[in-house]
Amino acid sequence: MHNLDQIVHAASAAFAATDDPDVLEQVKASYLGKSGEITGLLKELAKLPPDQRKTAGAAINHAKDAVEAALAARREALRQRALQARLAEEALDVTLPGRGQARGGLHPVTRTLERIEALFASIGFEVADGPEIEADFQNFTALNTPVDHPARSMHDTFYLQDEAGGMAEGVLLRTHTSPIQVRHMQAHVARHADRETMPEIRVIAPGRVYRVDSDATHSPMFHQVEGLWIGENVSFADLKGVISDFLRRFFENDDLQVRFRPSFFPFTEPSAEIDMAFMSGTLKGRWLEIAGCGMVHPNVLRHVNIDPEKYLGFAFGMGPDRLTMLRYGVNDLRLFFDGDLRFLRQFV
Ligand code: DAH
Repeated sequence: MHNLDQIVHAASAAFAATDDPDVLEQVKASYLGKSGEITGLLKELAKLPPDQRKTAGAAINHAKDAVEAALAARREALRQRALQARLAEEALDVTLPGRGQARGGLHPVTRTLERIEALFASIGFEVADGPEIEADFQNFTALNTPVDHPARSMHDTFYLQDEAGGMAEGVLLRTHTSPIQVRHMQAHVARHADRETMPEIRVIAPGRVYRVDSDATHSPMFHQVEGLWIGENVSFADLKGVISDFLRRFFENDDLQVRFRPSFFPFTEPSAEIDMAFMSGTLKGRWLEIAGCGMVHPNVLRHVNIDPEKYLGFAFGMGPDRLTMLRYGVNDLRLFFDGDLRFLRQFV
């Protein structure tokens, strides 16, 4: 019997000394396996005289139960330990300090666009949109820009290639937001086709435009805001009023001077460049060009099936990047598009 206690003891100690579940099963075999110690004792029983077998058998089975219990306890302990280790590994320490809030902000040009939209919305302009990959017709033809016009040259315009690497017929990156005028008028005319008198068009269209150009004041991608007001009685005086009023409100500066300098655009007649000047500050008295404008050319109206005898109006296209530079005193356009957070954070 003394021997049995020793075996139970030794087995428990061997189980306890084992940290690895696989090794534990091997240790188990040396006690309870086919040639294990306990199994060996049970085999010996047959050799005992019959009157001793019963007590000896009961004692061995008792020891076997004890070894199995010790084994089960160790298995459970190792299982728990593995579980704890996994939980600790995956633990989320909610008491750790946070990483701080990474707050985003609007890009300065986006701020300008939103400001322009809000100011024009306040005088009844809606906002229109159009595709950046544009058709030749909307970008040029409908805007009275004939095929041989220099604005169509490869030096200025990104044309698109088809899959074979050849020129995609009449597909380009829009060079200005003016094609949105065309699209908007086409949709407007279609929507009011069965009316005697179509309602006025009063719309602005901000967006990205593309030209083959890059230096401190030119980026191959830049922004424009197109404006269009078409009605039965819209004059150049309205254009001057709308633009001057807009600029004074945009810069929150009532002294700001605005002038309209005769110019040429294929899609307007007469046409003008819009210059403005501050009456104080570092740029005091310097005329700065900020937009092109004019009375919409009758040919443009004809291209979208609007009767130029009945309707007329003005259009303008301005550079919000330039307006942003002036508003914040930035002298290099490229800073806006480099994506340097040290620069951009200043506007948040
Ligand atoms: N589309 C012209 C450009 O990119 C700008 C412009 C001038 C737009 C006169 C207009 C306009 O609508 O009337 O240079």
